Amino acid sequence: MNDDAADLIDAARKIQSQAHVPYSEYRVGAALETADGEVFVGCNLENANFSNSLHAEEVAIAEAVKNGHREFTRLAVSSDRRDGVTPCGMCRQTLAEFCDDDLVVFCDEGAGEDEKEDADGSTTVYTLGELLPNTISEETLE
Ligand code: THU
Ligand code: ZN
Repeated sequence: MNDDAADLIDAARKIQSQAHVPYSEYRVGAALETADGEVFVGCNLENANFSNSLHAEEVAIAEAVKNGHREFTRLAVSSDRRDGVTPCGMCRQTLAEFCDDDLVVFCDEGAGEDEKEDADGSTTVYTLGELLPNTISEETLE
């Protein structure tokens, strides 16, 4: 993995600190890179009714899209537990609305701040097409 992937993963780790997770206590951070190299981050924001909770990836995508970005290259997702976090099914579909199958998705195993050097060994790399093959898209509805 190249160094700037480590920076993207680090951005996903850092934004976990802003997560609002009084119910699950499961912090998630996401960092989405645009085609022109900007990075937008998001974290999970839970709600007392449980069903209104926002996922980290949704927050990152919303932030990027509302700032005028529609082309994305890479996403990093991180949790504060060493559990192999991946985007859930809903987030995969939300990603598919704005990202191509070749979006690279780094799933961090949740090493802490002081373990950044472990990033290479604890990150699984997928493409969005692998995570969500054959999905419904704008083209399907044409
Ligand atoms: N979560 C995310 O933020 N992204 C995902 O795709 C997986 C799940 C959050 C939602 C909830 O706050 C917590 O993780 C436990 O499911
Ligand atoms: Zn999700």
